[in-house]
Amino acid sequence: MERIRVRGSGPLDGRVKISGAKNSVLKLMAATVLAEGRFTIRNVPDITDVRLMADLLRAMGSEVSYADAVLTVDTPADTVPEAPYELVEAMRASIVVLGPLIARLGRARVSMPGGDDFGQRPIDWHLDALRRLGAEFHTEHGYIEGRADRLRGARIVLEFPSVGATENALMAAVLAEGTTVIENAAKEPELADLAAFLNRMGASVLGAGSSTITIDGVPTLHPVDHQVIPDRLEAATYLTALAIAGGELVLEDARPEHMDMLMQKLGDMGLRTSAHPDGVWASAPERLRAVDINSLPYPGVATDYMPLMVAALSVADGAGIATENIFGGRFRYVDELSRMGADIRVEYHYALIRGVPRLSGAPVRAHDIRAGAAIVVAALGADGETVVSDAHHVARGYDRFVEKLTAIGADLDAD
Ligand code: UD1
Repeated sequence: MERIRVRGSGPLDGRVKISGAKNSVLKLMAATVLAEGRFTIRNVPDITDVRLMADLLRAMGSEVSYADAVLTVDTPADTVPEAPYELVEAMRASIVVLGPLIARLGRARVSMPGGDDFGQRPIDWHLDALRRLGAEFHTEHGYIEGRADRLRGARIVLEFPSVGATENALMAAVLAEGTTVIENAAKEPELADLAAFLNRMGASVLGAGSSTITIDGVPTLHPVDHQVIPDRLEAATYLTALAIAGGELVLEDARPEHMDMLMQKLGDMGLRTSAHPDGVWASAPERLRAVDINSLPYPGVATDYMPLMVAALSVADGAGIATENIFGGRFRYVDELSRMGADIRVEYHYALIRGVPRLSGAPVRAHDIRAGAAIVVAALGADGETVVSDAHHVARGYDRFVEKLTAIGADLDAD
């Protein structure tokens, strides 16, 4: 998918089925290297990032197959503990294989991830946490090489509740000798899903989803059958599409308890939402009202919600300030919204958005997954046609995006 063409669309109406969470399944796939044998992962979205992670697992010797949202992974006894440059470069989340590889095989060679469109993406806290468990690292020719005879449980206090560092530490600690306590851990629902997966494998993890996680190490783990939680970021995308285009939707399988802050903020903007027996029900107001938003670690407003919320604020009554606290450089999509007539001024990590009555379709570019999705949802409320180039970014994280939007009344196509 290279280009998405979106025409301004009338009210949305109907039901959208929310797929499995990208940010959960990628980490569950990394966790499969912790045990030999056949894993079955269900509710897996059909997205590029899952294919990239499958390629990485294959490069390490696993057999991977995928059909009808079910992914099977056969982990061999002799996993090759190496993540090559091409795959880490294509998907930064692959850094989470580092902890599990060292835990099970005592060594890992993983390409150093570079920066991306959000700016610098360091991994120093991942390495610090793994060092606490006894791993040693050196970097050569762009690769991080890690070693450990047997990891030992330790107290790890994270400087910041980094999602990636918490995941790497957790997946290493499950096979360490003794008890590990991770303080100031990330609390995202995807982390709780990873802990549930690990516990099913025979690990002993307590407290995931809170800021203190306690792990009692076990000598070996076994493969499992697991269902991925629904994607709160995909659900957020359809909620903002609705906020902008108007109408009424049921998001099947969406979990309102994973999106409290988002639903509060959209509620302040005038969107009505409520829990529904099948997921979440939502109905859009005639006009949105502006609010201020700050991205923060969970349960705050996720950094991934910000482009979507800024798109909605672009057509709200009044002015709102969006403060990006997680990735300071994550405002490139603002230039694209401005090309569509949005009135946004960015200073440092703040954006001041003065709502305009309506955006106008224009040729624009998707810089990353959420930026691309935000432009598409903005285009639903714009006059005329918007042509989004580099749309492959959107396919990295959205399962059948064009089809799902079309089914609820949006007017768009892709090539
Ligand atoms: C982040 C988001 C996550 C989102 C994902 C994909 C947060 C807290 N995390 O997860 O919700 O789904 O991006 O877009 O919102 N950092 C360091 N050193 C490290 C690790 C991180 O300085 O070793 C910094 C990062 O530069 C960033 C912050 O910590 O400013 C949060 O990073 P982290 O949570 O690790 O990022 P992801 O795991 O990619």
